[in-house]
Amino acid sequence: MERTFIAIKPDGVQRGLISEIVSRFERKGFKLVGIKIIVPPKDFAQKHYHDLKDRPFFNGLCNFLSSGPVLAMVWEGEGVIRYGRKLIGATDPQNSEPGSIRADLAVVVGRNIIHGSDGPETAKDEIKLWFKAEELVNYTSNAEKWIYGTN
Ligand code: GTP
Ligand code: MG
Repeated sequence: MERTFIAIKPDGVQRGLISEIVSRFERKGFKLVGIKIIVPPKDFAQKHYHDLKDRPFFNGLCNFLSSGPVLAMVWEGEGVIRYGRKLIGATDPQNSEPGSIRADLAVVVGRNIIHGSDGPETAKDEIKLWFKAEELVNYTSNAEKWIYGTN
């Protein structure tokens, strides 16, 4: 089943938004298969955001990501990569659809509280960067047959 990497950035953690954000993914019907809280070192943040290394905000972004605790998660479910991005909303909260996490809970692009992988390749790379294989749990939840209609 498809998996994606989702992280609550230091602003989301410090603002006490963990349970709010986790519950949106959980209530949708996605399954949490990995979770940990860490302060990523700066060089780790640079690896995570390597695609953006030529952007003017790259240094500030990496400093920010490594400035405090980040809640790193792997969520599993049908279409979770694409739909996870929908739940999160557009990069700039000023343009995010109302009802999305960034629209409802954030105001400026530099403090948009959450990260989500933007495609299958990125998801694979990011999960590998943030988690060891043994930190991810394979299990069946009782709700799955009701979520997917397989009962
Ligand atoms: P992520 O899920 O965090 O990767 O966001 P995204 O995929 O919606 O956007 P992108 O990967 O292009 O940018 C990564 C992060 O850089 C964003 O989430 C923002 O926090 C930050 N960022 C993007 N554009 C800007 C910008 O113009 N100014 C500033 N200050 N930060 C930006
Ligand atoms: Mg991105």
